[in-house]
Amino acid sequence: MKTFEYEAHPSRVIFGAGYFDRVSDEMRALGVRRVFLVHDPTSAASAAKVASDLTAFTDVRMWDQVAQHVPIDLATPAREAVDAHGSDLVLSIGGGSTTGLAKAIGLSHGLPIVAVPTTYAGSEMTTIYGLTGERHKQTGKSAQVLPKVVVYDPLLTLGLPANVTGPSAFNSLAHCVEALYAQGHNPVTTAIALEGVRAIADALPRVIRDLSDVDSRSDLLYGAMLGGMALGQTGSGFHHRLCHILGGKFNLVHADTHSVILPHVVAFNAPVLPREMRRLAEALGVPGGEAAGSLWDLALECGIPTDLASLGLEREGLDEVVEQILIEEKNNPVPLDGPNVRALLDAAFDGVRPGKPLPQPSPSTGRGNRELIEP
Ligand SMILES: NC(=O)c1ccc[n+]([C@@H]2O[C@H](COP(=O)([O-])OP(=O)(O)OC[C@H]3O[C@@H](n4cnc5c(N)ncnc54)[C@H](O)[C@@H]3O)[C@@H](O)[C@H]2O)c1
Repeated sequence: MKTFEYEAHPSRVIFGAGYFDRVSDEMRALGVRRVFLVHDPTSAASAAKVASDLTAFTDVRMWDQVAQHVPIDLATPAREAVDAHGSDLVLSIGGGSTTGLAKAIGLSHGLPIVAVPTTYAGSEMTTIYGLTGERHKQTGKSAQVLPKVVVYDPLLTLGLPANVTGPSAFNSLAHCVEALYAQGHNPVTTAIALEGVRAIADALPRVIRDLSDVDSRSDLLYGAMLGGMALGQTGSGFHHRLCHILGGKFNLVHADTHSVILPHVVAFNAPVLPREMRRLAEALGVPGGEAAGSLWDLALECGIPTDLASLGLEREGLDEVVEQILIEEKNNPVPLDGPNVRALLDAAFDGVRPGKPLPQPSPSTGRGNRELIEP
């Protein structure tokens, strides 16, 4: 018998190729007067286009100073500019970093947000915000930062290069996977997360093969939206904490760590989560197979990092990571200790495929056990 608590997040989503043209109508419906438009430099043309539509009925202040993890040094001048402008809404066009800055403003000024994501981060579907000071990223949750309207348009993602597309999609895939057993998970969030896994695992290889395929981009963006919903309505755990520690200590691009770490965390937890692993393997398209190895194969197939060494880390640095994760993570299904975390990190460092070796590695497709196919 099922018993659970579930809280839906109230945001309006419109999704479709060409829907970017509907942004100004959505804004008009909200009755805005003074829009603060945050965008990253790669979205400058889209921002300029929407700004010219909006000027028919609002005043627009443009802002393009954004960076990963929302440094407080960038959030402060943006907040001051909002004060000077007297903005009554924040419109963000860009990836997770841009949405993050919009959230920082929404949090401090109580302003509604309209988000137009251009990557697969999924932040636009969550109440989670983050701000980074000199040494530390502070995160929290507030209903205030959940965008009121989210406009998804896969056409905006066509320019996203493979080396951003893959890691960004894997970030979202990791949100789906962790949502299967994170605190607060329930049958509704599990359904969302599994559909997210299905969509991303199916679409990502197609997108990498043809970055300009709008259908595949659309499927991947849909999966990313579900990843954001799954994260927002449950939370994250060991995997994301480990990625944040690695990213923070060694100044790595946040998204690049996910494809390396996720398969190993899944293998680590698999022995105590048989039901979740069975469902995950099904969603990954390998019913009855191993989820961990399949995630690693997916990363390899898509040309996304599968080892920490290639991200520029030194093995000695892993000691600090072990120390830090043992302090930060207390709720993982398999309890962490020094040796088991170190073994996980060593395997991730070396790029070893987790799980059982594949019986027939296939060098021609690029899939298979790296240890077996490389000299
Ligand atoms: N708060 C949350 O719920 C949440 C959820 C997921 C991620 N995040 C945060 O989001 C950030 C990562 O987001 P991200 O992976 O989108 O990175 P990002 O926003 O930094 O974008 C990555 C790169 O892609 C470029 N880019 C963006 N859209 C593009 C497009 N359409 N075409 C070409 N280039 C484009 C950007 O200029 C940037 O160089 C991290 O700081 C992470 O912590 C937050």
